[in-house]
Amino acid sequence: MNDFLIAPSILSADFARLGEEVANVLAAGADVVHFDVMDNHYVPNLTIGPMVCQALRNYGIEAPIDVHLMVKPVDRIIPDFAKAGASIITFHPEASEHVDRTLQLIKSEGCQAGLVLNPATPLHHLDYVMDKLDVILLMSVNPGFGGQSFIPHTLDKIRQVRERIDASGRNIRLEIDGGVKADNIAEIAAAGADMFVAGSAIFGKPDYKAEIDKMREQLAS
Ligand code: DX5
Ligand code: ZN
Repeated sequence: MNDFLIAPSILSADFARLGEEVANVLAAGADVVHFDVMDNHYVPNLTIGPMVCQALRNYGIEAPIDVHLMVKPVDRIIPDFAKAGASIITFHPEASEHVDRTLQLIKSEGCQAGLVLNPATPLHHLDYVMDKLDVILLMSVNPGFGGQSFIPHTLDKIRQVRERIDASGRNIRLEIDGGVKADNIAEIAAAGADMFVAGSAIFGKPDYKAEIDKMREQLAS
């Protein structure tokens, strides 16, 4: 696995050709498929569910699928996603009545587990659950839509979470989602992130490989 993971968000892909789009972006050098699940309740948009995740697996997609649940309630959909081939499942603490139980449920289904913090969600949600986290996902936009601008104060939050991860001594991925592109990825990495979701920045361009290469060059500099 690369030290820095690039996870294109398929929210900005062409859904009419989803299998092909995902295969193309992986062939272009992406590490992980970021799969945004929205329920028109927890967030004001409606996307895709476990059937589509299974369809990608049936199509032959073998890369890790990173399921970002923006749904409430969250627990009842987790086993379905695990069966459908999810590798990582993350959820928002506001969407779960029992965060510790939800994390345990994800792990008992054989997936990696993560919490997602919105731009205005405080870091104390990480207290007492660090030992159960494989991923911490910081939102750098308000969830619901692709193509929004990166909220600058997220950088400070990334630094604080990086300190917490290092202090925990655990191998927890720090993932950033929203407004990530080649011209801010270096700064985001310097703050401590090591997994980068990018939707519009990749799928909005004609040449996915050129865009991913540009991101990797920035990460190497
Ligand atoms: C927003 C989603 C993101 C979104 C990112 O709620 O969680 O994954 O697709 O899109 P960009 O990269 O265009 O900001
Ligand atoms: Zn997302």
